[in-house]
Amino acid sequence: MTAHLLKAEIHCHIEGAAPPALAAAQAKKYGVDTSHILRNGAYVWSDFAEFLICYDAVAALFKTADDYALLTETYLTELADANAIYSEIIVSPDHGDRIGLGADAYLAGISDGIHAAREKTGIEARIIVTGERHFGPDRVIAAAEYAARAKNPLVTGFNMAGEERMGRVADYARAFDIARDAGLGLTIHAGEVCGAFSVSDALDLVKPSRIGHGVRAIEDPVLVARLADLGIVLEICPGSNIALNVFPDFDSHPLRRLKVAGVRVCLNSDDPPFFGTSLAHEYEIASKIMGFSDQEIDTMTRTALDAAFVDEDTRCRLL
Ligand code: HPA
Ligand code: ZN
Repeated sequence: MTAHLLKAEIHCHIEGAAPPALAAAQAKKYGVDTSHILRNGAYVWSDFAEFLICYDAVAALFKTADDYALLTETYLTELADANAIYSEIIVSPDHGDRIGLGADAYLAGISDGIHAAREKTGIEARIIVTGERHFGPDRVIAAAEYAARAKNPLVTGFNMAGEERMGRVADYARAFDIARDAGLGLTIHAGEVCGAFSVSDALDLVKPSRIGHGVRAIEDPVLVARLADLGIVLEICPGSNIALNVFPDFDSHPLRRLKVAGVRVCLNSDDPPFFGTSLAHEYEIASKIMGFSDQEIDTMTRTALDAAFVDEDTRCRLL
């Protein structure tokens, strides 16, 4: 059992954390037909491309700052109930823009949800602004510019998510230059849908301290050694990887091999209800299915906090 272990995650997408029941309530409130994306209390998709479409459709059910505050508070409260003390939430200003809410109100709602959850439970959270790769380089640059000028102290990092097969990292490198110059922490989805080359590209062109997933680095032993040497933290999301068929089962998941090779790793839920998981469930998988000891799991939690984009005072308090 891992229920008693302290937990932390640094890779969870806010719209991807929407419980299906909450999405259904939102759909009812706004009179939206969700039969194509929500059936029998579960999200409907069959591969990565369909997952992204389903994700964007669920995102469109959250239309006001209050909707986002409720979503964020709901996610963080459940996390705190599972003994989590910290989360980094991946948010996309484009999703705020697309529903006509605007990025400022979108971010204000998410921040309100963070404050409400912290008041109630003590959980700490920070915001990572993300560009969505499938919206194209211009939108990813706009997201970086938005993050760079955001006056919100909860915004501490920049990421790129979305369709990894669209373009090459080089097409998006300028966005990361903007975010780096603004002092934001950098992480990028790579080595999830695409192979080891996308992780190498990310290291060469983005110079992040962390990589979202990065699991397909395992296809290149030289790259694995490079990740270990550089101390790059991989934000590993085992349940997501199995649900999206990156690996056929937990036995073939490379988490242990990466850890043994000296790569710094931590556990994350990614888009929990989309993948039939939760952070608590990821910890259980690590323990029961992957055979990690409580001590090894604690090390992964500490790695998440070590790699967190958070001020040193808060980090010391959490560690
Ligand atoms: N990968 C890429 N983009 C995403 C994901 C993911 O797992 N979740 C939400 N956007
Ligand atoms: Zn992700």
